[in-house]
Amino acid sequence: MVSDLDTYYNVALNLTKKAGQLIKERISEKKSVEIKSCDIDFVTETDRQVEQLLIKGLGDNFPEHKFIGEEGVSDGGQCNLTDAPTWIIDPIDGTLNFVHGFPHSCISLGLFINSQPEIGIIYNPMLEQLFTARKDHGAYLNGNPIRVSDHTDLSQAIIMFENGTSRDEERYKILCENHKMLVPIIHGMRSLGSAALNMMMVAMGGADAYFEFGIHIWDIAAGELIIKEAGGVVIDPSGGSVDRMSRRVLCASTQTLADQLSQKLIQYYPTPRD
Ligand code: IPD
Repeated sequence: MVSDLDTYYNVALNLTKKAGQLIKERISEKKSVEIKSCDIDFVTETDRQVEQLLIKGLGDNFPEHKFIGEEGVSDGGQCNLTDAPTWIIDPIDGTLNFVHGFPHSCISLGLFINSQPEIGIIYNPMLEQLFTARKDHGAYLNGNPIRVSDHTDLSQAIIMFENGTSRDEERYKILCENHKMLVPIIHGMRSLGSAALNMMMVAMGGADAYFEFGIHIWDIAAGELIIKEAGGVVIDPSGGSVDRMSRRVLCASTQTLADQLSQKLIQYYPTPRD
């Protein structure tokens, strides 16, 4: 029997694949770029078109569903997560990468019902990486099951973090402190320029943890479910439950690793909650 969630998932997957082709076709072209909060925070015509394509397609099929989209919110829309079925969309996560033609950008699409994640889809069309998860059904890369690493020790870990699309000096200072403290005691530090794809490296076991201060719900909505379904943890960097509107996140392959990292990290409270 086909359930409502099967239908939501299939429609969302088809639309994501279609929208992904738009990103892939345009990655090498010259983009028309607008600046948002600062000179490294961009929106392109393609971000807007992908978001519209997804909202129209999902809205036509599921008129009662709500949306939180990065570009809609940037243009003054609401960022309200209620118990209603809500699609949370980052049309191009890694817009700066997209503008440069650095092929690590993706669509991130999550469905929350009763404020809990039910569907997560992350698609990098340049590298043909399609990460998917449904609650209690496992996590997949191109249809094959994925699992987080079993690392429990920071000294053996690859940790992902980045400055994000901000020139805030205080934020940069804390990032440098975290970098200085972590790099000598871990295996390595990595960064892809896309919060969602950083999370997917943890989900597939390529990296062991990722944290960032300054993200938004659309950067992490799909990734949270995919990491959890791959066996990992997603928490607040201070060690408590993740608060999706708090603009901070810590993901790890194991709770032990998450705890070690959270105890070491210099905490940073950026701009007000979303
Ligand atoms: C950004 C990317 C970046 C992360 C920022 C995000 P955007 O998303 O995920 O890697 O560091 O925090 O805002 O603006 O490209 O959708």
